[in-house]
Amino acid sequence: MNLEPGWRREGKAKFYIDNAFYYPQSEIGRDLAILAAAVYKHNRGQLRVLDAMTGCGVRPLRYQLEAGADWVWANEGNPELQAVLAKNLTLGMQPHSYRITHQDANQVFFSCYQQRDYYDLVDIDSFGSPAPYLSTGLWATKIGGLLYLTNTDGRTTGGRNPDKSLQVYGAYARSHPAVHEQAMRLLIGSALQQAATKGMQVQPVFSLFNGQVHRVMVQLMVGCSWTSELYGFLGYCHTCGHYQSVSWRQLGRVVCPGSHLDSRSCSLSLSGPLWLGALHDVERLKQMETLAHAWGWIKRAKLLQIMQAEADMPPYFFKLGEIGHRGKMDVPQRDRLIQALRYRGYRATRTHLDCQAIKTDANMANCIEIAMQC
Ligand SMILES: C[S@@+](CC[C@H](N)C(=O)[O-])C[C@H]1O[C@@H](n2cnc3c(N)ncnc32)[C@H](O)[C@@H]1O
Ligand SMILES: [Zn+2]
Repeated sequence: MNLEPGWRREGKAKFYIDNAFYYPQSEIGRDLAILAAAVYKHNRGQLRVLDAMTGCGVRPLRYQLEAGADWVWANEGNPELQAVLAKNLTLGMQPHSYRITHQDANQVFFSCYQQRDYYDLVDIDSFGSPAPYLSTGLWATKIGGLLYLTNTDGRTTGGRNPDKSLQVYGAYARSHPAVHEQAMRLLIGSALQQAATKGMQVQPVFSLFNGQVHRVMVQLMVGCSWTSELYGFLGYCHTCGHYQSVSWRQLGRVVCPGSHLDSRSCSLSLSGPLWLGALHDVERLKQMETLAHAWGWIKRAKLLQIMQAEADMPPYFFKLGEIGHRGKMDVPQRDRLIQALRYRGYRATRTHLDCQAIKTDANMANCIEIAMQC
């Protein structure tokens, strides 16, 4: 269907962008949020959304038109977007089903808490790190509700500025090939720790890397069953390419197993603390996948299948190029290597994080040995 000049369409939403920040590549993160919100509405019977940094208002439109949101609070800090936002929501949303404000997001979260006006879904589409809004966003989230966080500062989560990562996440992030997974684990870990300070906990619903931006949706739960095995450290040996999860109790006596071979002097770095548990909630992803099929969103359904398979794999991935480089051979073919690893009794899957990488419980030495034979 042709659109009049100036209009844009995404999902069922039709809107103007004007001078608002709208990033078409973030559609995938919006699609997954809509699916999760629709599943939530189906399971719970209601959906009140707080879109704290709404831009032109594409999300409020989609949360209502596609996920069936009963009420949306669309907040945008920049008052210059008032006209475009009002125009889009007036034309696309049911009357009396939304509210527009132009406040700082933290002011909104605090007023929610003060009014006891908690939301089923709080979407924080911030620039940089979500840390300034993370603990405060929890104040506006209903118990059992969803908090959707964003990180665009891959430099910090990727280990290029560990001091900054310590400042914003309370975690030291080091560089290694699986840093895009690390970013999501830092976000979940930080949300978990912040929730725990309030006697609550969070569980990941899904974690997404779209090639540029990291997004994590967590569910806020009552009670704090803190398990420090799920909030620990990730070790990577730059000499061998070996990864290991490291618990707090192991700190100070961590060695790379490769250091015992050939008297190697291994160069081990530790990142963390970060989340070491499942990246996604498989049951929720199944429901989202069913809905994606029903809506004809085939690409999203395929993505959700890959996410289900990778959900409880170890907290890192191996790039095929690194396996090839370390094994001094051609880059192995992904699906053939996955099959060969499974044949040898290992778990192995693709990962949505990198189409040229695999997730497996085999270590780098096993991967090289098996890749040489396949
Ligand atoms: C990434 S853009 C939002 C894009 C939009 N959510 C979308 O999906 O198209 C971030 C928006 O947040 C606004 N913003 C930045 N800091 C804010 C704050 N502290 N409080 C409220 N809004 C803020 C910016 O003006 C910008 O429009
Ligand atoms: Zn080593």
